[in-house]
Amino acid sequence: MSLKNLLSWSKTEFSQLPWRQNRSLYRTLVSEIMLQQTTVGTVKNHFERFLVRFPTLKSLASASEDELLVAWKGLGYYRRARNLKKIAEALAKDHGGEFPHDLEALMEIPGIGPYTANALVGIGMDKRALAVDANLERVIARLLNLKTEKGLKLQKEIQTLFVNKKIFNEKLSFRELNEALMDLGRTYCQARKASCELCPLKKDCLAFKEGTPLSIPMMKGE
Ligand code: ADE
Repeated sequence: MSLKNLLSWSKTEFSQLPWRQNRSLYRTLVSEIMLQQTTVGTVKNHFERFLVRFPTLKSLASASEDELLVAWKGLGYYRRARNLKKIAEALAKDHGGEFPHDLEALMEIPGIGPYTANALVGIGMDKRALAVDANLERVIARLLNLKTEKGLKLQKEIQTLFVNKKIFNEKLSFRELNEALMDLGRTYCQARKASCELCPLKKDCLAFKEGTPLSIPMMKGE
């Protein structure tokens, strides 16, 4: 697969996103929780302000609910702000304020699910992990022309292919890979619009070859 094209495209277009500067696991955690239900365009406008207010895991762990909700203003889905604080508290209390370095230990922390754990390892630590959200699910299902219905089963199928090194087995930065696939899902490989002619992976994409990218991932009842 010509991932080089993909990675250099992502770097050129999107390396200026604020959470891609001054990397730390804390900044990765905050940005990934924000980006779970809020668009890149909106998070871009709120991320640094939140980090100024809560610059460290410790400051977040000891925040009052009121301060936290004020800092979260504009991002919506306030449950995520409480969840973020819960994670910070657990890390402060049980892990000496540090992030555990493997997936299993991360997922034992209340509030950290498979997506966040994989994002912390893949993006935050730049180690082999794939943060499969709806975007990566769609991009990878199209690349491989997977016909499994959209949802948990398809996400697990993708994780299994990845863990068994059937995909993305080349030597590369997993941070760059995860971010570039997310960039692709947000731009040229959207659910209802595929701009395949512009796509840096079009030569590798089996759904493009079949001429059916928009039918993948398959939806219930289709
Ligand atoms: N969506 C989720 N995480 C993201 C990230 N790190 N960059 C861009 N889009 C994302």
